[in-house]
Amino acid sequence: MSVPVVRPARSFDMGEIEALARRPFAAAWSRQACADEAERTDSIFLVADDGAVRGYVLARVFEGESQLLDLAVVEDGRGVGRTLWSALAQAARGRGCRKITLEVSEKNSRAQHFYRRAVAKVVGRRPKFYNDGSDAILMDFPLA
Ligand SMILES: CC(C)(COP(=O)(O)OP(=O)(O)OC[C@H]1O[C@@H](n2cnc3c(N)ncnc32)[C@H](O)[C@@H]1OP(=O)(O)O)[C@@H](O)C(=O)NCCC(=O)NCCS
Repeated sequence: MSVPVVRPARSFDMGEIEALARRPFAAAWSRQACADEAERTDSIFLVADDGAVRGYVLARVFEGESQLLDLAVVEDGRGVGRTLWSALAQAARGRGCRKITLEVSEKNSRAQHFYRRAVAKVVGRRPKFYNDGSDAILMDFPLA
């Protein structure tokens, strides 16, 4: 895998994003839902591209906050998640956001570790938030 570039998601990416969104803990977006998000002016939707889509990040901008809707990579542990996270933070700052908010399953230890490494702070918990009965851990990532 060569170093991917981060760019806005385009309509021709939607098939690859839909396939990637079926990963456990990703949000299982349909192709149409992805396409709708890419059209929204209040979304930040980025892909890591090295000739193929290696990951994506999707967030909604609302009242000075950026709510993370999904982040997923094709291959774990290659730094693609971190690259996408940095690009999201930069884009959210550019939209005037003060923080990124997110929720992550209590069962998703890998993503929790990842967000802690990004210096996101735990700010709450929603009991039984997910369909499998697991709690959501709420985290905030301040944008300087
Ligand atoms: C969470 C996710 C986006 C991380 O992306 P990634 O490209 O693997 O992340 P990076 O390679 O940039 O960094 C991975 C970090 O996790 C750590 N890590 C690796 N294996 C791990 C494991 N089994 N458990 C916990 N942390 C682990 C790495 O050590 C690295 O941290 P480091 O800075 O201490 O080295 C990716 O695992 C993913 O797509 N998961 C499935 C979808 C998902 O859970 N999305 C989040 C929804 S809230």
